[in-house]
Amino acid sequence: MGLVAKEESLFSSLGWDEDISCEKCGLYKSCQNPKIKVYGNGNKGILNIGEAPGEEEDRAGKPWQGRAGRFLKQMYRRFGIDLFEDCWNINSVDCRPVDKEGKNRKPTQLEINCCRERVLKVIEEKKPKLIILLGGVAVDCLISYRFSHGNGSITKWRGWVIPDRDFKAWVCPVFHPSYLIRQTSGEVAMTVWKQDLERAFTYLNKPFPDFGNEEIEIIDDLSVLNEIKDGYIAFDYETTGLKPYASGHRIVAVSVSTGKKTYSFWLPQKKKDRRPFLDLLANPKVGKIAHNMKFEDLWSVIRLRQPVVNWVWDTRIAAHILDDRQDITGLKFQVYVNFGIPDYDSAISPYLKAKDSKNANSFNKVDELIGSSKAQDLLVYCGMDSLFTYKLAMKQMKELGYDISS
Ligand code: URA
Repeated sequence: MGLVAKEESLFSSLGWDEDISCEKCGLYKSCQNPKIKVYGNGNKGILNIGEAPGEEEDRAGKPWQGRAGRFLKQMYRRFGIDLFEDCWNINSVDCRPVDKEGKNRKPTQLEINCCRERVLKVIEEKKPKLIILLGGVAVDCLISYRFSHGNGSITKWRGWVIPDRDFKAWVCPVFHPSYLIRQTSGEVAMTVWKQDLERAFTYLNKPFPDFGNEEIEIIDDLSVLNEIKDGYIAFDYETTGLKPYASGHRIVAVSVSTGKKTYSFWLPQKKKDRRPFLDLLANPKVGKIAHNMKFEDLWSVIRLRQPVVNWVWDTRIAAHILDDRQDITGLKFQVYVNFGIPDYDSAISPYLKAKDSKNANSFNKVDELIGSSKAQDLLVYCGMDSLFTYKLAMKQMKELGYDISS
């Protein structure tokens, strides 16, 4: 998909790869109040993004005028937030979508895509501190388009408070109020919704994080690794496939992060040149962290003939312990929800997929990548994996009450 050109401002240059415009969408032709404008004073810097105007909103030319809006207003009031004084309000789609019988309907993907530029302009102009995404359509509008594939339902997104670096705002997906109104025995959903909102509003007082040094150093000579004598490291491999057994499989690139420093390198051919890394794996004073440690563990044993000494943390398992929803433990998802960078590996991820998805021993296309102009991207991506694995581990340890000083 790749609707936004990476490296360019999300606001100034939308690299759409499909024809999108109000003409293409056409909803404006059939509604009473086309292109409803942002509404509210935004005194507390909150931007609410809903789904689309319904009948009442279309009649009044303002968002949140019907039952869902009244319910939302009442809920916000409980948290000391006035929906129209303290917030700005828009929808993912500006004009009312109707079905053949003239009833409200969900906007289509095309309609959402056509209206996205307007949503981004509102964010650029208003610079909200907190963006509440009410429902799955709003998630589609603001999050999914920045991921090259797979986004999942609101169930997976709700409850995270995401320090989104593109928008420099906390982005908080929650259920849509109409979903709660529709639930007949919805105590659980309601409790979850209130908790999600309450948590989101606490971030109004938290400054947007400074993520510190996130540089990746690409090295040839591994002797700098000899300086790591204790503490923790996160490390990551890029390999020719998932399993190390079949003949010809190898570790291509390695990265090591101490949190302060992150090194990335092609695995040297000669054992003597690998020595500093092998010694690090063998050093019992250095705690080892990985995202899915059984992968790094197995490849270390089979292909480097060096068991990993002193495993301390697996960020994938910890992510599952902290939150057992489906489809959330992947590093890419965790990096976005915790550190606000969407889809950082999209340039190289196609090369890491097995050529034969049914065969666990299959080779991927990493060798094609190495021979291309994107080879350096693989080292950067590998470095980011261990850097964010390290950061994630520290965050998880804190959340789970581990003493990280020892
Ligand atoms: N539902 C929405 O998503 N937005 C509105 O403005 C009203 C109902």
